Amino acid sequence: MDHKFKTIIEPFRIKMVEPIKLTTFEDRKKYLKEAHYNPFLIKAENILIDLLTDSGTGAMSAAQWAKMMEGDESYAGCRSYYDMRDAIVDLTGYKHVFPTHQGRAAERILFTAIGGPDKVIPNNTHFDTTRANVEYTKAEALDLVIEEGKDPSSEHPFKGNMDLKKLEALFEKHKGTNKIPLCMITVTNNSGGGQPVSLENIRKTKELCRKYNIPLFLDCCRFAENAYFIKMREPGQQNRTIKQIVQEMFSYSDGATMSSKKDALVNMGGFLAFNDDGLAQEVQNLEILTEGYPTYGGLAGRDLAALAQGLKEVVEEDYLEYRIKSTQYLGNALMREGVPVMKPIGGHAVYIDAKAMLPHIPSHELPAQALCCEAYLQGGIRSVEIGTLMFGRPNPNGGPDIPSAMELLRLAIPRRVYTQSHIDYVIEVMALVNKNKNNLKGLKITEQPPYLRHFTAKMAPL
Ligand code: F0G
Repeated sequence: MDHKFKTIIEPFRIKMVEPIKLTTFEDRKKYLKEAHYNPFLIKAENILIDLLTDSGTGAMSAAQWAKMMEGDESYAGCRSYYDMRDAIVDLTGYKHVFPTHQGRAAERILFTAIGGPDKVIPNNTHFDTTRANVEYTKAEALDLVIEEGKDPSSEHPFKGNMDLKKLEALFEKHKGTNKIPLCMITVTNNSGGGQPVSLENIRKTKELCRKYNIPLFLDCCRFAENAYFIKMREPGQQNRTIKQIVQEMFSYSDGATMSSKKDALVNMGGFLAFNDDGLAQEVQNLEILTEGYPTYGGLAGRDLAALAQGLKEVVEEDYLEYRIKSTQYLGNALMREGVPVMKPIGGHAVYIDAKAMLPHIPSHELPAQALCCEAYLQGGIRSVEIGTLMFGRPNPNGGPDIPSAMELLRLAIPRRVYTQSHIDYVIEVMALVNKNKNNLKGLKITEQPPYLRHFTAKMAPL
């Protein structure tokens, strides 16, 4: 019998390496000051471990690089498009597949086609770009995740689930009006902490959608990670393959938007895919307008080829076991060090609760950003604030900003990039930061743009 060893090994070996630069505390102090305490503004070469995002930061496999050499660069009808389409159809069963240069381009095309004033789009939680693309058409973006999904202390196994009661009430309210052109589910729920959605919840959402004649679309950036959680946590799913679970997830939907920079294991790309023939006509026209001819959609043939291969690799169970367990390894270790993290640990990132960790720093002094800067200063680690810097709103009556509901620091894990010793180092750095937490001070914003301020705002320590 196979012995089950405790160590989670990376299920790959390394044949090409990229050096990362060690810096001194004094160097980092200088870089941080030059970046006005906004790690987005630090040059990547001065970062040691970059946990800013899991999007487009993964490593491709030898097989993907080999496929790139075979990429077909024909303007129209390239073979690589058909390889990509076949890989997507194999998982999703959809009829129409449009490549796009990334996820938000798929969102823009979809909502240009079906959004507009008076429309309402429900989702468990819209990701920022999805919300922005919905709202740009003057439609309303509604978040209807279950209550447990908003509670950092809840250990619900599927915190990304849609609240079916609220969804039904919404459908009932707008019955017979065409106000809801589609319903979306984001898997996994990134904005809610990378939390999964159960198969049962997707099926029941579809049943409701069918009853009210509303199409269901998935924002499927992290569909494979979601399927792995289903296999681990949902009763009756343990003996199925990931691919079977993925196929069942998609079978309840009518279409999807995808950022291939996540679970298609490529550095750039996305797609919009669905069944509706009428929508396909309109999407094709919009695609040509800005993305390019519908068989390349803003991507090179070699990108499509790598994407097709990535979709095959991402549903391999060895890969997913390593992926999810290594994220949990980081989260569990931080918990043991007494760092408050959001539970259960999500798929692609660990979220530190900065409000709980730094109760002496009020929201308007940006506790999660202070933590972000400290992680860089102490260990060269880059992470991202998801709190009042990102979501706070200027107070119309003057005074401190209206704070975000949560003050989180996200440590997102690039796919197949860092080894366990890199993560052990991150744990050590964060443990040190935690030990000295009472000495941390907040920040004040000295310069900010009118929207999406977290990318470029300048700050100073208080
Ligand atoms: N939907 C979700 C759930 C996402 O997480 C993202 C990107 C997008 C859509 C947009 O895709 O970047 O290819 O245009 N999330 C990245 C992140 C940026 O860091 O979480 P994109």
